[in-house]
Amino acid sequence: MPASNFKPAIESHLKDWGLRRFDTGAAYDQWQRTTLKPDELTTLLRLSDQRRLPGAGEADEIAFYEYAATRRILPVLYSQRYDYYVTVGSAVAERIGQAGSVLDVGCGIGVLTTFYARQFPQCSFTGVDRSPASIAVAQEKAAALGLTNVRFDCLDVDRASPPGSFAGSFDRLIATQALLQTEKDPGLPSRNWQTFDRGKDPKVQADFERRTGLAGRLDRLCAAMAPDGRLIVCEKTRHLARRVPFQRAFAARGLVLLEPPRPIQYSVVEEATDDGLLYVLGRTGTLVWDESPEHAGKPVDLAALTGRPANPDEPLYENHQTSAQQVWTSLPNRRILQETTKQEPDGRQVHLELGDSQGLTYLYCANTFDQRQLVMVKTEQASMLAQYYQELVSGLDHPSQ
Ligand SMILES: C[S@@+](CC[C@H](N)C(=O)[O-])C[C@H]1O[C@@H](n2cnc3c(N)ncnc32)[C@H](O)[C@@H]1O
Repeated sequence: MPASNFKPAIESHLKDWGLRRFDTGAAYDQWQRTTLKPDELTTLLRLSDQRRLPGAGEADEIAFYEYAATRRILPVLYSQRYDYYVTVGSAVAERIGQAGSVLDVGCGIGVLTTFYARQFPQCSFTGVDRSPASIAVAQEKAAALGLTNVRFDCLDVDRASPPGSFAGSFDRLIATQALLQTEKDPGLPSRNWQTFDRGKDPKVQADFERRTGLAGRLDRLCAAMAPDGRLIVCEKTRHLARRVPFQRAFAARGLVLLEPPRPIQYSVVEEATDDGLLYVLGRTGTLVWDESPEHAGKPVDLAALTGRPANPDEPLYENHQTSAQQVWTSLPNRRILQETTKQEPDGRQVHLELGDSQGLTYLYCANTFDQRQLVMVKTEQASMLAQYYQELVSGLDHPSQ
């Protein structure tokens, strides 16, 4: 089926799952409040927050997914993922092609796995997940949809290999938001605040793979993949600090890019979300891994900025993207008024700089987790930026807990 044709099919599939699309946060919140009892909402929020707390572990993750799979919570919670399912489900389905066997790792309640199974009746699908309640829902739904080409097994890929994977038998392996659950892990810092380069220390890489659990999961997936098989992966790796070690983990296992990675963007109700890249990997190919930051933003016309009337409530220029570094570097006659560089306890190095350039005052903030921020104001508003600089410096000296 051609790419663009999957959208109507997946929308109809999501309807069969009882999922709804909401255009506004207000409409979604209203539906959530009328559908769930207050104690259900409280439990959901508690479990959701709990798994994000520092020190949260596997048990907290599983507890959240177990509750999410219950009959009353499921449609409300998973409707938030409507656009995600349309975007990722279509992108993955376009890449299943003539595969005979597909493994979906961390398949959750099986919304996408059952979609693929419906679209490719000649192909056999296996979905695995470590949440027993999610697998029970997936099995029930597959039976209700009359699907005979899909099976679901409760399995933790950190501890066991998926069924049938010993001979490397799967033509396609799919992992979407399933391999790198530890969103709390900031990833690998760059060498210093001025560079995006991470260096190449095998110990640092091994430590990332160990603490995120990626090493064991990827080793099992590689073993399950047929010699000419493909791994289709999409995880939350938009930030370079996570993208670089993620990509290096594949490269270290002999996996190569089969197509240029494509960005996955969708909205969660009305909030635009950018997950990072969708990768299609195999064992032979010549494409080169890209470790560069997001592409440059627009150059800045300082003369035009200087000529604009100042608005006391907002800066003349604000850039929170990595391209802020390029703009900052190219500021003419840049003069530093105050600067601070500090090594934080979590390993990040932070640089704050207040300066001026051609009649404008700027504040530049950069850290080794690729965050960049450049703000420029007219000299008349310089005191506002100086105050902001002081606040940031004192925040470094007294970080909140
Ligand atoms: C965000 S959901 C993604 C579900 C599905 N892949 C999708 O794209 O909608 C993540 C799922 O990964 C599962 N998971 C996380 N770690 C796992 C592991 N070690 N073994 C099996 N499943 C795991 C979780 O239980 C959860 O259901």
